[in-house]
Amino acid sequence: MTTVLYPGSFDPIHNGHVEIVETASRLFDRVVVATLHNPQKRSGLFDLAERSRLIAASLAHLDNVEVTSFSSLVVDLAKEVEASFIVKGLRAVSDFESELQMAQTNTTISGVDTLFIPSASSHSFLASKLIREIARFGGEISGMVPPAVADALHQRFTESNEEIHT
Ligand code: PNS
Repeated sequence: MTTVLYPGSFDPIHNGHVEIVETASRLFDRVVVATLHNPQKRSGLFDLAERSRLIAASLAHLDNVEVTSFSSLVVDLAKEVEASFIVKGLRAVSDFESELQMAQTNTTISGVDTLFIPSASSHSFLASKLIREIARFGGEISGMVPPAVADALHQRFTESNEEIHT
């Protein structure tokens, strides 16, 4: 059985992420989607528990997908869940440099390799940061995120009037 780990901030998960998980779920036996606290980014919009809930709701149609959260090295999580590979999505050339650096670093420190799955062109512009900004100002995000995420963003920004953190 081949397990892969798909890590990310997922703050929040969007349709581009969903597409990558759908592809991984067709290619591999088991996909573990993990939302990790990214110390390079300021505190997020949704906490890890809420991100996990939204990921699970968005991927409920996929039988071989599990959702978890973690605050540690991604390679340690990969070993813990017995993943053969880390899977990452690539949207554009701009993603490539940092993703290659992370992949090479992770292989160097652990031997865990990373496989890249290209994003569909229809999703290659999607970014959680931009979706948060659009939602914050009441813009239309329903075509970019799963329904559970659209609801959560709507609640966060229209009902509780919370400020955005980017
Ligand atoms: O969605 P993102 O923000 O691009 O995801 C980046 C993430 C969370 C996958 C990356 O920051 C990560 O792997 N963090 C865990 C800590 C770690 O292992 N750092 C070393 C990476 S070379």
